[in-house]
Amino acid sequence: MIPNVGLMRWLDLYSTGIETIDRQHENLTDLLNCLNEAWRTGKGHDVLLFRLDQFLDAVGAHFRDEETLMQEKAYPDLDLHRAEHDFLLVQVLQFRTQFANTEVELTESMLDFFRDWLRDHILISDRRLGRFVLGIPTPR
Ligand SMILES: [Fe+2]
Repeated sequence: MIPNVGLMRWLDLYSTGIETIDRQHENLTDLLNCLNEAWRTGKGHDVLLFRLDQFLDAVGAHFRDEETLMQEKAYPDLDLHRAEHDFLLVQVLQFRTQFANTEVELTESMLDFFRDWLRDHILISDRRLGRFVLGIPTPR
């Protein structure tokens, strides 16, 4: 895969301090950029659906890994964090179904929604989880 920086550029400030989580986040960024690149260059529906599914599969696996980590560490904000994951999954799976049925098109605003959600979730919720796992106090 050729990483590109079209939609979301990975920044060090996104680091949670947990190597496996950070690499998964970086991979999600690459996959989202690939989806954006396919859309931007006018690829057909099948290609866009393939790229969307790649992103969704990686998001789902990543959420499961994070939730397993939170359970292992008895993370006190697990329910809240999981609810944020579930919110995105509902949104994207609903979109995926409609897109697969050609009821909706992929739009710039939907790509922006994915990016904004991912960035904000990493910056706030995942970095909070990282501080907890690493034993760094979090200001409430
Ligand atoms: Fe998360």
